[in-house]
Amino acid sequence: MNPSNEIDPTILVIFGISGSLATKKLIPSLFQLYKKQLLPEKIVIIGLSRQKIDLNQFVNGLNLQTKDNIEAEYLNKFKTIFTFIDFEPSNVEDFHSLSNSINQINQNFQSKNTNLLFYLSIPPNIFSTVVKNLGLSGLNKPDKGLESKILVEKPFGYDLISAKKLIEDTKMYFKEDQIYRIDHYLAKDTAQNILTFRRFNPLFQTAWNNQHIKKIKILALESIGIEGRAKFYESIGALRDLIQSHLLQLMALTTMTLPKELSNKDAIHLARHDILSNIKSFKDYDEVSKNVIRGQYASYREEVGNPNSMTETYASITIEIENSIWKGIPITLSTGKAMKEKRTEIVIDFSASHEEAVNQLTFRIQPNEGIDICLTVKQPGLDRKTEVVTMDFSYKQSFDNYNIQESYEKVIIDALREDNTLFATSDEIIDTWNILQPIMDYWSQSQNDLIIYANGSEEIGP
Ligand code: BG6
Repeated sequence: MNPSNEIDPTILVIFGISGSLATKKLIPSLFQLYKKQLLPEKIVIIGLSRQKIDLNQFVNGLNLQTKDNIEAEYLNKFKTIFTFIDFEPSNVEDFHSLSNSINQINQNFQSKNTNLLFYLSIPPNIFSTVVKNLGLSGLNKPDKGLESKILVEKPFGYDLISAKKLIEDTKMYFKEDQIYRIDHYLAKDTAQNILTFRRFNPLFQTAWNNQHIKKIKILALESIGIEGRAKFYESIGALRDLIQSHLLQLMALTTMTLPKELSNKDAIHLARHDILSNIKSFKDYDEVSKNVIRGQYASYREEVGNPNSMTETYASITIEIENSIWKGIPITLSTGKAMKEKRTEIVIDFSASHEEAVNQLTFRIQPNEGIDICLTVKQPGLDRKTEVVTMDFSYKQSFDNYNIQESYEKVIIDALREDNTLFATSDEIIDTWNILQPIMDYWSQSQNDLIIYANGSEEIGP
C-alpha cells in the first residue's frame, strides 16, 4: 500500500513560516516526503506571516534541490499545496478568519477525519498568546471530523518557572495528547537505534548498570558558530539550546529501564521521565561549580556585538542518576559551538579488572553514523602485551544506498500518524528544567568561571 494512503487528509498551519526552522528544516523535509509520496494525497499547507508572501519568491528562496526533470515537476506540484495568509498572532479576529478558511478547505476535502496540525515556530514570548487565541477561536476543538494538534518547537520555556507557566497556559486549551513538543534528536535514526540495540543484544543487557559501567559521556560538538542568530542565542546559550533538550534526552534513552514493548508510547514516556526525574540535585553552588564548565568561543562577543556577554557557547555538566542501577556513575553531557569538528556521540566505558584495559562502546549519532566497540586484546607475538582495537559498525557500509534521513521527516510523519513517542511530555520538560535550574542560578551570580576558547578547539574537560 502507498503509505500516503494510510494518513488522513491534512491541513498543516505553519506559524512563523518565514522563520529559520520552517525554511531550513520543516519545508525541505515536507518536500522530501512529498517526493517520496509519503504525504497524504489531500494536503494543504497554510503559511501565516505578518508580511505578505509571494508563493514563487518564497519557494525559490528555499533553494530546494531537484536533481532531474521529474523532481522539478514535483516541485511545481509541491507549490500548489501552499496558501499564505497575512496574520497577526495577537489578533483573535485573525484566528476566526483562519478557522473559516480551515473549514472551507475541509469541506473541499470531503473527508470524515482530517488532521489539523498547528506548527508553532514562534518566539517563546508570543507562545501563550497564540495558544490562547487558538482556544478562544475554537481551533483547539474544531468541527467534527477535524483532529487538532499543536507541534511546538523548542525552547519550551526559558527556565523552570516559565516552563511551568507555559505548560499551565497550554493545558487550559489543549490536552496533553494534542501537544507534540519537538526534540529532533529523538527523531534521529541513530538515537532511536539506542533502544533497539539495547533490546536486541543480550550481550550488553546484563552489563548495563553501575556494576559494569564506570562512566558515560554524551557529546554534541558543532563546528559551526551561532550562524547569525545573535539575538536568539544571546538569550539562550548552550545549556538551554542543546543540553536541556537533546542531550538529556539522549541520556534518558541510554539509561532508562526498557519497557516490555518498545512500541508502547506511554511506557517509553514514563521510562524517560523516570530517569530524568531521578537526577541527583546539586545541593549548593560549591557542588555546582565542581560539576559544570562553561565556555565561549573567542570571536563570539564581537559577532553578537556585546563585549560583556557571558552567554556560554560551550557547556559541560556532570550528573548522577539516583537509582540502584546507576548510583555512583558520573554522566557527563558536553556541547559546544565553533569546535574543531561536528561530532555527536555517546561513549560508555565499562569497568575492567586491569587498569590499562579499555572496553568501550560508542554510539556515533552523527556524522559517520555507527557504533564502535573498543576491546583490549593480546598483541600477536611471544609477549603478553595488550593493545586496544576497534570493531566498527558503519551504517554506510552495512546498508545499501544508506542516506541519513533528515529527522524532521520523522517528526512530521509521526505527528501525522498521531504517534507521539518521540516527542517530549510536559513531565519530561519539567524534569529537565529542574536539573538545570541550579546551574542557571549559579551562573547568574558567578563571574570568573567563563572560559574563552579559541575557535576550532577540541572539547574542554573534564
Ligand atoms: C538545534 C539548536 O536544536 O540543534 C542549534 O538550536 C543546533 O543550535 C542544532 O545547531 C543542531 O542540530 P543537528 O541536527 O544539526 O545536530
